Amino acid sequence: MTLPHIARLPIVAGLLLVQAGMATASPAAVAGNYILTPKPRPAPAINGPSVSGARPGRPFLYRIPSTGDRPMRFSALGMPESLRLDPATGIISGTVPMKVGEYTMTFRARNSRGAATRRFKIVVGDTLALTPPMGWNDWYTHYDRVTADLIRRAASAMVSSGMADFGYQYVNIDDCWMVKPGSTDPDLGGEPRGADGSIRPNRRFPDMKALTAFIHAQGLKAGIYTSPGPLTCARFTGSNGHEEADARKFAEWGFDFLKYDWCSYERVAGSKTLEDRKRPYELMGGILAKLDRDVVFNLCQYGMNEVWTWGSAVGGNCWRTTGDLGVEKSARLPGFYSIGFKNAAHDEYAGPGRWNDPDYILIGSVGNANRISDPPKPTSLTADEQYSYMSMWSLMAAPLLFSGDMNYLDEFTLNVLCNAEVIEVDQDPLGKQARVVRRTEDEFVLAKPMEDGSLALGLFNLSESPRRIAATWADLGVRGQRRARDLWRQMELGNVSGNYAADVPRHGVVFVRLFPR
Ligand code: GLA
Repeated sequence: MTLPHIARLPIVAGLLLVQAGMATASPAAVAGNYILTPKPRPAPAINGPSVSGARPGRPFLYRIPSTGDRPMRFSALGMPESLRLDPATGIISGTVPMKVGEYTMTFRARNSRGAATRRFKIVVGDTLALTPPMGWNDWYTHYDRVTADLIRRAASAMVSSGMADFGYQYVNIDDCWMVKPGSTDPDLGGEPRGADGSIRPNRRFPDMKALTAFIHAQGLKAGIYTSPGPLTCARFTGSNGHEEADARKFAEWGFDFLKYDWCSYERVAGSKTLEDRKRPYELMGGILAKLDRDVVFNLCQYGMNEVWTWGSAVGGNCWRTTGDLGVEKSARLPGFYSIGFKNAAHDEYAGPGRWNDPDYILIGSVGNANRISDPPKPTSLTADEQYSYMSMWSLMAAPLLFSGDMNYLDEFTLNVLCNAEVIEVDQDPLGKQARVVRRTEDEFVLAKPMEDGSLALGLFNLSESPRRIAATWADLGVRGQRRARDLWRQMELGNVSGNYAADVPRHGVVFVRLFPR
């Protein structure tokens, strides 16, 4: 079948500056970008995951992601008594019930244009991150320039840009918040630890508790970074020999997510054996599980010793499967493709609470990982490449962590990041990572089974010209008639049988969901 004619909406205003709810035009127009994601309707729609994992008795925080006109009033039917909901903001806070089990509730959002409901389940047990974490990480924008103030501004922008209304919730600090031993920069140098051995932030982070309180007040969560080695990758202070004290400090400060980056641990490890490579993650995983706070554990060791086969057993919720996407080189296609291809091979290891992590989403205005002193600038990826990137990450049930500049979110970038039906594929509670149906020089086809029995299908054109790509029912293991829906355009495509075929632009994607009829 062929796609109906779709109007492509050009961006005429160029970059929009989204900050504190204000949109201003900037001169850096991005030519050729076309918007597919329909604008959210004025009536309420509740987005984001339908399930959340939490440990008994720990603090709980969740902002019900919902689009639609404000003001909006929220309610939650059947919510455990230990939780409370702010009806004006939709922020749920309180304590996770002590009793292990499933707590199902119904969220309701209402405004002057209508109402929406959605079922939501808190699974109280051992497993966090039942769906892939979504949020932002500062690395590819701020590098060694990161400050508490920039993190606050990013948190505010997550709400004012609307990203939080689609489920983005983690605001994660990467490297460079600690002291840099030997640095002559008065902001970065100094004693890395207090007299009692406790880790000290550098002067750009004067009050970590106040910072996480600011993030939490908006219903968002806070992430932090360290290394099991003596130094981080950017040569700031690591946690070697202080693992337990540092983890306790992160929890006391109020962090909800830890990225644990191998870096200088290579020197400590001794050998390249599985045992030596696993050790620091096993240690930290054990410590985190015993904290009085839920901290999602992100392993960052670039895929060594097939981390996907053991990351979950050491307590990891997600693990980088490759080197850094920002420095990935490839002959013809942009780096995210080769990272995606590598990550796609490990689908059998992903599931609720354990995700393959192909690194961040580098679109919008991003820094140069090869020359971190360069200021961020608009991505050179084409519109089709950006749709492919986001589609591939969603099909792979990857953590959706944007790492571009939150202060320069243009309309096109938000259209890529904030399509509720695309995100729904990523956040599906079944937690399956797409299977590679085909990978040739010119075509890449991914298929992801969804909880409701539908199949999300991505047809990626890797070639240099438009191309017709097909997936047969035999390829996909389905039978009979299916109802096809275009996820980027959020549009019904009618019934199909035998195969699904579409014309796909150069380096572009056609992303559909095939429903049983
Ligand atoms: C490594 C990681 C990156 C980033 C930097 C920080 O390269 O893979 O994601 O955290 O360190 O120095």
